[in-house]
Amino acid sequence: MLITGGGGQLGRALAEEFPEARALTRAEWDVALPAPPGLVESELVLHAAAWTDVDGAEDDPQSAAAVNVGGTGNVAELGAPLVYYSTDYVFDGRARTPYVESDGPNPLSVYGRTKLHGEAAAGERAWIVRSSWTFGATGHNFVRTMLRLGAERGEVAVVDDQRGCPTYVGHLAAATRELLERPFGIWHVAAAGECTWADFAEAVFEEAGLDCRVRRIATAELPRPAPRPSYSVLRSDKGAPQLPHWRDGLRECLGRLA
Ligand SMILES: NC(=O)c1ccc[n+]([C@@H]2O[C@H](COP(=O)([O-])OP(=O)(O)OC[C@H]3O[C@@H](n4cnc5c(N)ncnc54)[C@H](OP(=O)(O)O)[C@@H]3O)[C@@H](O)[C@H]2O)c1
Repeated sequence: MLITGGGGQLGRALAEEFPEARALTRAEWDVALPAPPGLVESELVLHAAAWTDVDGAEDDPQSAAAVNVGGTGNVAELGAPLVYYSTDYVFDGRARTPYVESDGPNPLSVYGRTKLHGEAAAGERAWIVRSSWTFGATGHNFVRTMLRLGAERGEVAVVDDQRGCPTYVGHLAAATRELLERPFGIWHVAAAGECTWADFAEAVFEEAGLDCRVRRIATAELPRPAPRPSYSVLRSDKGAPQLPHWRDGLRECLGRLA
């Protein structure tokens, strides 16, 4: 069993959940290139490597596609069944009720488009796991950024008009094991509950005991290169593994950091 993107936040959580797997960092396999010799005997690949710089993809769409589409094709070339991790950013966010697996995607950003094309590149023998707003005790993520800012400042401005499901990578990794019992296809696997980034920031400060105020702002006040969906709550209508509430994920993550 292989894990790609073994140095990323999800890759590390998968390596803990699947100690029997070999976790490869980018230095061991740059997935934009064909697989190095010796990997063709794999029985299953948990494909967590991706170009995840959402804003950076707008400036360099070709490189993002080389990893997210071409790289996924290279992983599929190994011939083993694979788990491909996709994103809520395949949706445009115009809905006001949760997106289920049968809803049509319409990505707003280069990143979202490359991840959607990556779903196709994963092939027929793949579990396509769409998750959302992932965070963990390592890597670059919103929780770690808020902990740093909350320790430095008395107030942070956070957008309050994007709504999603912040998903703890440890919970996503555990759900992956359950998912392997289900048929191939698209599965929505995100934390229970929903919130805005501002709600999430407040929860981080509360749970971490930081005395920092959240000033709620609109996305328009914080222009960024890539558009984000304003609503990307994911739910399953076909019996995907259920995850704990995002607040439980946050507590577990903070426990790990402590
Ligand atoms: N982050 C989110 O909010 C979110 C939400 C939904 C779905 N997802 C999906 O979940 C998966 C895991 O993401 P994550 O949150 O764990 O992000 P992450 O921490 O950025 O991990 C991505 C990993 O992929 C590696 N990588 C990048 N380009 C590579 C290449 N060409 N070859 C091999 N490895 C490469 C990165 O290595 P370096 O560290 O060396 O760059 C990094 O270790 C991705 O498919 C992502 O699209 C993420």
